[in-house]
Amino acid sequence: MGFERDESGAALLGGVRLAALFDDPSSFGVDGAPLSTPAYVYDLDAIAGEARALREAFGGLPHLVAFAIKANSAGPIVRALAAEGAGADVVSGGELALALACGIPPEDVVYSGVAKQAAELDRAIGAGPRGILSIQAESIEELTRIDERARAAGRRARVSLRINPGVEADTHAYIATGHDEAKFGIPKAEIGLAVERIQSCSNVELVGVSSHIGSQLTTTDAYIQAARMLLTIASSCDVAMTSTGRPALTLVDFGGGFGIDYGQGCDAHPADFARALAVEVRRAGRESCRTLIEPGRSLVGSHGVLCAGVVMQKRAKPNDDERTWLIVDAGMNDLLRPALYHALHRIEPLERAADAGGLPMRVVGPVCESSDDFGTHVLPQPPPRRVVIRDAGAYGFTMASEYNGRALPTEVFLRGGRVDAVIRPRGVDAWVKERLG
Ligand SMILES: Cc1ncc(COP(=O)(O)O)c(C=O)c1O
Repeated sequence: MGFERDESGAALLGGVRLAALFDDPSSFGVDGAPLSTPAYVYDLDAIAGEARALREAFGGLPHLVAFAIKANSAGPIVRALAAEGAGADVVSGGELALALACGIPPEDVVYSGVAKQAAELDRAIGAGPRGILSIQAESIEELTRIDERARAAGRRARVSLRINPGVEADTHAYIATGHDEAKFGIPKAEIGLAVERIQSCSNVELVGVSSHIGSQLTTTDAYIQAARMLLTIASSCDVAMTSTGRPALTLVDFGGGFGIDYGQGCDAHPADFARALAVEVRRAGRESCRTLIEPGRSLVGSHGVLCAGVVMQKRAKPNDDERTWLIVDAGMNDLLRPALYHALHRIEPLERAADAGGLPMRVVGPVCESSDDFGTHVLPQPPPRRVVIRDAGAYGFTMASEYNGRALPTEVFLRGGRVDAVIRPRGVDAWVKERLG
């Protein structure tokens, strides 16, 4: 169903009138304090549907959709994806613990990240009967650290080499991760050295190779270029392993990065990536290996919105030009993407105003930073009571902070046209208590 508008022009998510959530939360069975803005609202049915469509696109190829928890770590979302057979891609001990607590088996968890701490490695190695499916080693040095921790635990850790394929992804510099200057992964040129190191590690078993070239990819070209490279590397790792009596690889993890349409278009759909990947995997004769992907944004991004209240409209005429700002109660602490990446999210009235005429205005938040700015949007006059910031389901709440002494936003989870769950973070009073020391 996703985001849509009813015949009166009111914004709907998952079939629910968003304004009604705030005006009449009790009609949705929401107990306790009324729901207030800023609040994230998510459509669990659409998120589950997104995972299902992606899995179907593999056309029977053995695969694992490992949801990148960093995009959205809310329990109701992770559980909804787990129910669709998704695993997890985690980048910290905290995310690992969350994935396991949401019922994702250790067998379906992979762990990336350049700076895994000893305690985090211990958690990954110690999970379940055999540890997690794969710790993605981001450097040759890390292989030795994993080996040491596995020895201390009396276990063999399953490890993949995260390869930096040296591919330029056409995306924002901050989210391009597969090029030569990036801190991520082991450069192609050093794979031989990494394999040699593995041969000397008796508590590490090489089970796969992985890569992730970047996020918000709007075409499949660079992703498939990296995938072909990874498949070739997997074959040479197989030879190196089997020639020394070790098992061949059992997984190839192509990473995430599938883009979504933030209103400026997106040529490739997530299923296009999966279909193209399935062709490459079959062409390379790797059907018997498990194909992994690590999507985050594409599973959740379009199915979450941030609802904000309008505080006031401000007008000023510093010179001949008049400026108009719409000041809302959501800020960069709630949704960092515009400040961090210059991302532009569509901002629209929660209720369509009767008067369709609009005025371009700069939508800004309350945070004391000039970068607390959601860009210029055409909004009705007089301004609406509330606005909806669209496509905020990924890298929204997970990047939120309490900067400026602001409470974290509420999160509301919809399923079947009802409120399924609400997460109310600790609030300002608890923040004050903690800061008092
Ligand atoms: C290793 C890794 N895997 C997966 C992802 C998820 O990417 P996306 O949300 O673009 O699918 C990221 C994002 O930064 C990542 O670093």
